[in-house]
Amino acid sequence: MAIVRPMTAVIAMIGMMSFVLLGVVGNDQAVADDKPKEAPGKKYDAWMTVKLVSSQQVLAHLTAGDFKKMGESARRMQFVHHLEQWLRDEDFKNQSGYKAQLHAFEFATNELVRHADDKNMDGSLKSFQLMTESCVRCHQLLRDPVE
Ligand code: HEC
Repeated sequence: MAIVRPMTAVIAMIGMMSFVLLGVVGNDQAVADDKPKEAPGKKYDAWMTVKLVSSQQVLAHLTAGDFKKMGESARRMQFVHHLEQWLRDEDFKNQSGYKAQLHAFEFATNELVRHADDKNMDGSLKSFQLMTESCVRCHQLLRDPVE
């Protein structure tokens, strides 16, 4: 459709620009933080940056009530997540806390896609909240591991 194509191009451009911007700004912040330079999993930052941008897009579409775009952003996150998990082989992958947050994240993202397809605002919002909680909890765990 004539309307869809330019819109898709604009969204793709915004996505790419956010990606580049976050890549630049995000990395500067990481350097400014008290994180060690050779942080484990540094090579996966690009995956996670896509996750961060996608989650921000989900929030934007959630507030706009745009279920179609919300579903697209959630699916992109799912895809990147599975790819990243497939490539990741660190030890912490087998820790129960990490696994728990991983499953919480996967469940919330699946639910987000399902509710977006059903155009269910309450369900989408709840899933988004659960998803962001798993982001924060998993990262908290990585910074401060519980044996
Ligand atoms: C199950 C665990 C887990 C979940 C859930 C998770 N992450 Fe991550 N994330 C990681 C790991 C592992 C890294 C690699 C960096 C490291 O080892 O500290 C990482 C790295 C990142 C980075 C790169 C900067 C940094 O802190 O190293 C960003 C940004 C990020 N994640 C955002 C997110 C967002 C946003 C979500 C939720 C939408 C999310 N993550 C969910 C495990 C997780």
